[in-house]
Amino acid sequence: MAFGLWFTLFELLLKLFLILAFVKKGSAGITSTFTRTKWQSFDIPLDHKVLAIPNGYNAPQQVHITQGDYDGKAVMISWVTADKPGSSRVQYGTSEKKYDFKADGTVANYTFYNYKSGYIHHCLVDGLEYETKYYYKIGEGHSSREFWFQTPPKIDPDSPFTFGIIGDLGQTYNSLSTLEHYMQSGGQTVLFLGDLSYADRYQYNDVGIRWDSWGRFIERSAAYQPWIWSAGNHEIEYMPDVGEVLPFKSFLHRFSTPHLASRSNNPLWYAIRQASAHIIVLSSYSPHVKYTPQWLWLRDELKRVDRKKTPWLIILMHVPIYNSNQAHFMEGESMRAVFERWFVHHRVDFIFAGHVHAYERSYRISNIRYNVSSGYRYPVPNKSAPVYVTVGDGGNQEGLAGRFRDPQPEYSAFREASYGHSTLELKNRTHAFLNWHRNEDGQKVHADSVIFLNRHWASNLRRRRLKKDDF
Ligand SMILES: [Fe+2]
Repeated sequence: MAFGLWFTLFELLLKLFLILAFVKKGSAGITSTFTRTKWQSFDIPLDHKVLAIPNGYNAPQQVHITQGDYDGKAVMISWVTADKPGSSRVQYGTSEKKYDFKADGTVANYTFYNYKSGYIHHCLVDGLEYETKYYYKIGEGHSSREFWFQTPPKIDPDSPFTFGIIGDLGQTYNSLSTLEHYMQSGGQTVLFLGDLSYADRYQYNDVGIRWDSWGRFIERSAAYQPWIWSAGNHEIEYMPDVGEVLPFKSFLHRFSTPHLASRSNNPLWYAIRQASAHIIVLSSYSPHVKYTPQWLWLRDELKRVDRKKTPWLIILMHVPIYNSNQAHFMEGESMRAVFERWFVHHRVDFIFAGHVHAYERSYRISNIRYNVSSGYRYPVPNKSAPVYVTVGDGGNQEGLAGRFRDPQPEYSAFREASYGHSTLELKNRTHAFLNWHRNEDGQKVHADSVIFLNRHWASNLRRRRLKKDDF
C-alpha cells in the first residue's frame, strides 16, 4: 500500500519535471503577460493645442535641433516660417536674454503634389563649449521666439550620459503620451529610430500638412535637446500616383544630419560621438550590399571607432535584425547578411531598431557561422555580439504589433506589445542601464530594466571580476 503511494507520488513528480523541462525549452525569455488598455490610436486633430501654430506674423515654428558636428561642439537649429522667408539668423549666448553671438543659416522650400512647404531654415551654430547651457533666439520683432539647449560633456570614456530612445512615433494621443513620459525621464539626447510623422498615410496636400503638424508636435522636446535622426519606410514617400517619386523628399528637406562630419556622402547614414558613446546611424532603405557607398562608409567608420575615447558603440537602424514578432519578421535579413559579422568583430554594444510596433530585447547572439552551404542555421550565444533592442512602440496610428511568434525563440530575452520608450544610461566605461518605460506606468516604473557591461572594457580589462553577471 505504502509502496503504491510512493510510486504514484514519484510518477507525479516525474510528470511535473517533464512539463517544466518542456516549458523551459520552449521559451528562452519572457513574453510579458501585461494587458494594456485598448486606447484608440488615431491622429490628434489639427486644431488641438499640442499642434498649435505659434502666435505672431511669420513666427518660427517646428523648431528642432540636432548635433551639428562629429563631437558635440556644434548644433544645427532648424525651423519653418510660413508666410515669407524672413531671417535665417540665430542669436545665442550663455545667459538668458543676452545674445552675444549670432550665426546665419540657409532657407529653402519644396513642393509635394500641390502642397508648397513653408520656408525651412537650417542654421549651424558651432564653436560651442562642452557641457554649457546656451539660450537662443530666432525670428524677428514681436514674432521672435526663445529656447535653450545644453551641450554634451566632452568626449571622455567615463562621461555619464542618458539617451532617450524613441521609434515610430507618429502624432496620436499615444504618441503624445510617449513624448510626455520621455520628457520626464531625464534623457539628454533622443536617438530616433525612424518613422517620424506617418504623414504618408494621408493623401495629396495633407501629406505636407501632417509633416508640419508633426514638426510642431515634437518641438516641446526637439527645440531643447538634439534628436538624432534615422529614416524609416514612412519617410520614403514614393507616390507615383501624385507624381512624387523622389525618395525621402520631405524628410531630407526638413531634417538635417551632420553626415559630412563623419565623411558620409549621404545624410541617411552617418555617425556622431557624444560623451562616452560612438553612435552610427544606418539606412535600412538605402543600398547596403558589398561595395555600395553605405557599405564602404560603414567599413571605414567602424575602423575610426576608438573605444579608449568612446567605449560605448551604438548602432541605430529602422528595421530590426532580430525580431520575433509576426510583423516584419525577417525583413532585416539583407542587412544581417552583410553587416552582422562586422557587428560581432567590432563588439558593438547595442543595436537599436524600430519598425515593429512593440518592445523586444535579445540576448547576445550571433548567426555568423551560417552560409548557404553550411548547416549552422541557428543563432548561438556570443559574448562579442550586440544586444538587439526593438523600440518601435512610439504610438503611431497603425497601432501595436501584438502577435509574437510562438514559441518565443531562444534569442529573445523580453518582449511586450505596449506603447513606450527606452532610456540608455551610460554610467562610466564599464556599466550602462537600459530601461524600457511602458506609457501606462508611472515614470519611476521600468517594465524592463537591465544592467549591461561594456563589450570592450568589461571583457578586456575586468573579465574575471565581472564574469559572474556578464550578459
Ligand atoms: Fe517602419
